[in-house]
Amino acid sequence: MENRKAMVIGTGQMGAGIAQVLASASYNVVLYDLDTQALQKGISKIETSLKKAVQKEKIKECEMNETLARIQDTTSLSNGDDADIVIEAIVENLEVKKEVFKKLDQIVKKEAILASNTSALSITELGSVTKRPEKVIGMHFMNPVPVMKLVEVIRGLSTSEETYKEIKSITESLGKVPVLVKDFPGFVSNRILMPMINEAIYALYEGIASKEAIDEVMKLGMNHPMGPLQLADFIGLDTCLFIMEVLHEGFGDDKYRPCPLLKQYVKGGYLGHKVKRGFYEYE
Ligand code: 3HC
Repeated sequence: MENRKAMVIGTGQMGAGIAQVLASASYNVVLYDLDTQALQKGISKIETSLKKAVQKEKIKECEMNETLARIQDTTSLSNGDDADIVIEAIVENLEVKKEVFKKLDQIVKKEAILASNTSALSITELGSVTKRPEKVIGMHFMNPVPVMKLVEVIRGLSTSEETYKEIKSITESLGKVPVLVKDFPGFVSNRILMPMINEAIYALYEGIASKEAIDEVMKLGMNHPMGPLQLADFIGLDTCLFIMEVLHEGFGDDKYRPCPLLKQYVKGGYLGHKVKRGFYEYE
């Protein structure tokens, strides 16, 4: 994959992680965000993560420097106009994503694939605002991106077999495992994970057990690395609520109704680990 160019849109937890794994796998990466402050934050997340890998002797210092040198940060989308693949990882808002896809379609070379890291939104709908719906696909990475093996690959109604094969091969080149799913709300990962998290929140809301007890049951009883409430904090409670709303609206089934306690936490700004308070408090 030497000399291949990728553009990553968004420098949040996911965008930074995606840029890191692409650069580590020898892609030249253009990392885009709206302002330089966001870009600096994104780059420093990548630096911190790579430095930890050096300390643990997983990579050499020179490899870290080479990886960082492959990442070019920019606030101009046109710096990625010759990218072979674009991966969008911005806020989970369909209208905002559609605007970005429209712009990308005009700017990026016509052979390029436009992928979205959306956790639940319709790939078909994103593809429909472009003139290349056959080249639009979902590439759903898991958090933390450098650690988690899965990439859920979502084929929209118009995504071509050629695009899917290309994304499968790119995913494998990153040392990840692609799993193909169809384009329905929440795909497979969040259709299963989020109702479980929502049910854990209901158990807390109904006073069935303490938060610690609920997490212990799932950690010790089911061998989950994190309890569901801890995981919700890690993912972000606003993201969890958003995904439940997409499932609820998309399927029109009340089994996906978000727990009132989840709504209350989000309204109160208890968004989880990123703001240092959610179900738990963080230093
Ligand atoms: N970046 C890079 N590496 C990281 C990392 C990060 N952010 N966080 C942890 N690691 C690495 C550590 O360096 C360590 O590596 P080592 O074993 O080689 O030393 C390894 O991961 C284990 O980390 P720790 O020992 O610090 O801690 P844990 O054993 O508790 O593991 C965890 C941390 C990997 C986050 C683990 O708790 C876990 O797997 N949690 C569940 C994660 C999960 O479910 N993710 C999916 C969320 S859903 C999603 O992303 C979809 C979205 O749409 C909502």
